[in-house]
Amino acid sequence: MAKVIAIDGPSGSGKSSVSRIVGGRLGFLHVDSGALYRIVTWRCLEEKVDTSDPAAVAAFAAGVGIELRPENGRVEYYVGGEKPGERIRTPEINAHASAVATVKEVRDRITAILRSMAAFGDLVVEGRDITTAVFPDSPARFYLTASPEARAERRRREQVEKGISDQSAEAVKASLLARDRVDSTRRHAPLRKADGAVEIDSSDMTLDEVVDAVMNALPPGWRK
Ligand code: DC
Repeated sequence: MAKVIAIDGPSGSGKSSVSRIVGGRLGFLHVDSGALYRIVTWRCLEEKVDTSDPAAVAAFAAGVGIELRPENGRVEYYVGGEKPGERIRTPEINAHASAVATVKEVRDRITAILRSMAAFGDLVVEGRDITTAVFPDSPARFYLTASPEARAERRRREQVEKGISDQSAEAVKASLLARDRVDSTRRHAPLRKADGAVEIDSSDMTLDEVVDAVMNALPPGWRK
């Protein structure tokens, strides 16, 4: 059976960088589950589906075709034969993704897609409900956190580096806290620390230190 490392946490907690590095070290495929919610959100916005209407989102999302391809150490997503790339990382998608992620039918479909990836091999899966709902039985479950200030600053730097947006630090923080609120108070699979998950507060830790903390907490025999 495939081994799955499950990592949850709010935006900017360092999940993506940590998951990518841990996956690279172990030869586990990196899976960004948030990108699937972003793809559904992107398609909704392109097709003018009202993201505040759960029934409309559920009906539309059922028809969004997403192809999975394990490539370069990660599971890549293709829509209509193309990778969405940075088109799913805009402030507009940030603003609508939480609403789309509250829709039960969308969550059920994405959960099934994520579970199907175990057929590709060992995985590091990052998201909001991976430790609680998607792979709750994994023996390697982590909850990453950091202060809102540290998280907002990381996100802002990331956006500037990618040339995506020149939002102020305050605007980035406000958008991130608004998303956290929706993600952690929604009815279906809200973001929360799972019982038994290892919690790591990365506010004052370097990326290397967080990676080491994850590696050191893996079950015996998983580390290389
Ligand atoms: O991690 P991210 O910012 O790319 O996530 C985009 C949105 O999807 C965010 O609002 C949280 C939501 N999400 C979720 O509900 N469950 C997941 N497993 C991953 C992301």
